[in-house]
Amino acid sequence: MWRISVKKRCAFCLCACAFVFLIMTFQVIEQLGQFEQASHRQQFTHVQAIQVIDVPYPVIVWWSPLTGELGRLGECGRNRCFFTVNKSYHSHPQTKAFLFYGTDFSIESLPLPRHEQHQWALFHEESPKNNYKLFHEPLITLFNHTASFSRHAHLPLTTQHLESINALTAQTHLLPLAYKNRLRKTLAPVVYVQSDCDPPSDRDVYVQELMQHIQVDSYGQCLHNKDLPPHLRDSTAMDDQNFYQILTQYKFVLAFENAICDDYITEKLWRPLKLGVVPVYYGAPNVHMWLPDSRSAIVVDPDEPPKKLAQYLKWLDKNDWEYLKYLEWKLKREISNVNLVTALKERQWGVQDIGQDNFIDVFECMVCNRVWENIHRQEKKLPSKVWRAEESHLKCPSPKLFDFAVSSSSSLRQMWRASYEQSKKEARALGLMLRRNRNFTVTQFWREVFTDREETDN
Ligand SMILES: *[C@@H]1O[C@H](CO)[C@@H](O)[C@H](O)[C@H]1NC(C)=O
Ligand SMILES: *[C@@H]1O[C@H](CO)[C@@H](O)[C@H](O)[C@H]1NC(C)=O
Ligand SMILES: *[C@@H]1O[C@H](CO)[C@@H](O)[C@H](O)[C@H]1NC(C)=O
Repeated sequence: MWRISVKKRCAFCLCACAFVFLIMTFQVIEQLGQFEQASHRQQFTHVQAIQVIDVPYPVIVWWSPLTGELGRLGECGRNRCFFTVNKSYHSHPQTKAFLFYGTDFSIESLPLPRHEQHQWALFHEESPKNNYKLFHEPLITLFNHTASFSRHAHLPLTTQHLESINALTAQTHLLPLAYKNRLRKTLAPVVYVQSDCDPPSDRDVYVQELMQHIQVDSYGQCLHNKDLPPHLRDSTAMDDQNFYQILTQYKFVLAFENAICDDYITEKLWRPLKLGVVPVYYGAPNVHMWLPDSRSAIVVDPDEPPKKLAQYLKWLDKNDWEYLKYLEWKLKREISNVNLVTALKERQWGVQDIGQDNFIDVFECMVCNRVWENIHRQEKKLPSKVWRAEESHLKCPSPKLFDFAVSSSSSLRQMWRASYEQSKKEARALGLMLRRNRNFTVTQFWREVFTDREETDN
């Protein structure tokens, strides 16, 4: 598929059109896609560059510059919708839905007043530490449709960092244990690579304590004690083959998420599983629902002392037979977790796969199809269907700090909990103002937050 700015001239349009029809291969599609937009979108629906004002299709407005598309007719099965980032469509009579990108969601500009026909949809695939206020009942329940890491979302993105079953079972980077044992003369048993220090999960404080009891090679900026070669120091090098070669020499990788919420699982878990290094995982408390096998990772219990974990890792380091139990699934290429296999099989989007839609396409089409569903119901004089986000679609507990004595940590560390508690008040205030359904100024919003606080304090 291809898209083109409405401002470009017709002649160019026609030429490009002919060109595209002649050599429409996936490679060309991909290149055009990369050229035309900064975001990671790939689209395969046939679309036309259009500049209609009186569109005969439902209009869906992205209330975020995410896609950068000023106007595109998207095809979703038999349904078509006009997608645009142009906010002046707010008052267009055909406008049926607004799409919000969680990290950008800002109180400063919202499409108010919200008409009865305006469905709101939230796309939030990033870390929960971005924009905590969405994570509370009064705000999240104002949306009709959701896409998030939660398995409860209308479009669950829990496996968004995992390409496929084959990526998990591949043995491309697997090193024989005997070789790893020889490397132990120069390398620690455990590796840690993190440059986003002191996030809400408080992982660095845990790791700092763990390092008192077992040797950890730490290549990132957090708790740094070993250098990466210069060309791998950039965070974009995390998927570099040379970086994989460094990780795969170790027996254990500390795979610690930046926030602790059910279903919030990132490449930190999948990467070691793909490489054949045992992840020591701290993150989603329900990670067992998503692991390839019940014995494929060592799950950190935050209530147990790190010393105990260190002892267990040291014991595994000395007992090849026990260590290998964690790699049995990999060696046999067997994924026993039906939930994981089913989720990967049933998801309608791909990860780094140009042969499949990506999750933004699928999200847009989910909303487009639901808008059409109600149009058809209206035509048949049936009552409209109602969709509503639930609290579980975006839910994280308040961040908790470990209480080990720490030698160094930033003030950032102290901030998360306060920020989460504050975000509850903001969500309550915003929920109230949105339910009043009048536009408001930033000052009015803060006054509401403040009023609210007084009430809770009394
Ligand atoms: C946005 O849409 C309006 C019509 O609704 C149009 O007049 C305006 O030029 C568009 N803006 C851009 C940047 O395309
Ligand atoms: C969308 O959500 C709002 C707020 O909860 C609700 O009033 C409205 O009926 C919902 N619309 C649809 C089509 O589900
Ligand atoms: C609300 O919107 C109207 C029309 O867009 C505008 O005239 C008014 O000043 C706005 N009110 C506030 C409080 O922003």
